[in-house]
Amino acid sequence: MAEVHCRAARAAGAEVVGVASSTRASAERAAQRFDIPSAYASVEELLVDGSVDLVHVCTPNASHAAITMAALEADKHVVCEKPLATDPETAASLLRLAAERKRIATVPFVYRFHPMVREARARVGAGDLGPLITVQGSYLQDWLLNTSDDNWRVDAEVGGASRAFADIGSHLCDLVEFVAGERISGLCAQTRTIFADRKNTKCITTEDVAALLFRTANGLLGTFMISQVAPGRKNRLSFEINGRAQSLFFDQEAPETLWVGGKAASQIITRSPEGLHADAARLALVPAGHPQGYQDAFNGFVADTYAAVAGDVPDGLPDFADGLRAAALTAAVLTSARDGAWVSVPDLFLPPDTPGRSHPLTAQQPLTTSD
Ligand SMILES: NC(=O)c1ccc[n+]([C@@H]2O[C@H](COP(=O)([O-])OP(=O)(O)OC[C@H]3O[C@@H](n4cnc5c(N)ncnc54)[C@H](O)[C@@H]3O)[C@@H](O)[C@H]2O)c1
Repeated sequence: MAEVHCRAARAAGAEVVGVASSTRASAERAAQRFDIPSAYASVEELLVDGSVDLVHVCTPNASHAAITMAALEADKHVVCEKPLATDPETAASLLRLAAERKRIATVPFVYRFHPMVREARARVGAGDLGPLITVQGSYLQDWLLNTSDDNWRVDAEVGGASRAFADIGSHLCDLVEFVAGERISGLCAQTRTIFADRKNTKCITTEDVAALLFRTANGLLGTFMISQVAPGRKNRLSFEINGRAQSLFFDQEAPETLWVGGKAASQIITRSPEGLHADAARLALVPAGHPQGYQDAFNGFVADTYAAVAGDVPDGLPDFADGLRAAALTAAVLTSARDGAWVSVPDLFLPPDTPGRSHPLTAQQPLTTSD
């Protein structure tokens, strides 16, 4: 992911001044490959470099919190990959620290930056769908389909207790909550680990599959299927929202279109200059008919993060509050799957329209729950 971040940083006009990795040799390889001036011996060495004003944390999950904490304490702005932390308490402490230090602190829930996702959100917000009734979504991959497929993510010590949900289900939840404008208030989850042993990693406890039934406070009912062992599916992140008046369907593997369903007639709308809501048009980088994709969405996210550093308040920028939200949802999924029970999801952060949303908590403010 560091490569994707690096491209996005440069696209936004930043100077990538240095890279740290697990070893100096690894940092030097990356520096050479991506033409980065400095290769540091350690993250600590990177953080004392006064020319660094923002750090992108793209390391394995369990190391995010310590690196992010050190970066904030060194007064750097931070883009921290998801999961922000592998438990909600640590995610909340990072959110507080970012607020104390008045740093911009964001998490790459980048699917929010597809223009047609913004179009879907604007249409829901304008009331086109009517009251929302149901939502179904899935995030399906197949890169862990065989026992020979292995990665640090399957090891709970490195990736966190949840794998499929924390790794990709968190994106789906973020996207649906972002578009629907409603938060999951309770859920019932089942998880399954298909392979206890893989090529190098044995006695695996992290899930390959997670299935969720959920509701929001407004009564919206939903189901999600998340899998890293679905043959033929690479990054099949899709969702459909059904309202009383209309439905919307989005598939991130075909991100330039949106299906709008109606009882009398349905249509597929494409990204084009005519008729897009302003927030969607803002993220349209190339002429209609030339497809935009994942890197473009990532570029939009990083550009908005840097704009926030410069003092702007971009709409829909996913920050540490959203990282905490994902950690809370992940904890709820694990609890529900373990206990076989319906679980309430605490609403741990202030509403998006709260002034100063980027810094929603101070050290003195307790976390509150809506349940
Ligand atoms: N937002 C997204 O769309 C998205 C997509 C893919 C991955 N990710 C996230 O990006 C992160 C990295 O995933 P990846 O697939 O690139 O992993 P990776 O294994 O390919 O890369 C991790 C890098 O971190 C380095 N590293 C390991 N420990 C380190 C440490 N303690 N200090 C410094 N460097 C260290 C490794 O040398 C390696 O270069 C994960 O947290 C993952 O969840 C996000």
